[in-house]
Amino acid sequence: MSLIQIVNFQPLGDERGSLVALEANKSVPFEIKRVYYIFGTKEGVSRGFHAHCNLKQVAVCVTGSCRFVLDNGKQREEVLLDCSTKGLIIEDLTWREMHDFSPDCVLLVLASEHYDENDYIRDYNEFLKVVNGEG
Ligand code: TYD
Repeated sequence: MSLIQIVNFQPLGDERGSLVALEANKSVPFEIKRVYYIFGTKEGVSRGFHAHCNLKQVAVCVTGSCRFVLDNGKQREEVLLDCSTKGLIIEDLTWREMHDFSPDCVLLVLASEHYDENDYIRDYNEFLKVVNGEG
């Protein structure tokens, strides 16, 4: 099964322009506890490089583009997010990296839990131990 799970949001456009509505437990497959957005990313900067023990997220590039790498310790796959009507679902225990941010990129992230630094796994070898049941 592919690590890349994309959810397509229904664009509610009319002659005035476009609108996308994201609703918990509908287009977003969890209760949303937190929303954050990443913007103004400097040229050549990559972000992420961590996994979470207990956190589901949906990432949407509302403007611009960036490339996501997802890794579950067995497979590593990538996807270009460049469309405001597509969300990338990121499950628990998934290593993520974000690269190639366009200068105008606004990356919106919906999260199933509040911010908790203790939930982060920031070391890739530690991540491999956890997913292989050695952590
Ligand atoms: P971090 O998660 O390390 O960013 P990246 O997505 O690039 O890995 O977050 C950067 C900083 O912001 C870090 O000091 C933690 C803080 N932060 C919060 O306080 N709340 C949040 O919801 C998030 C996502 C980050």
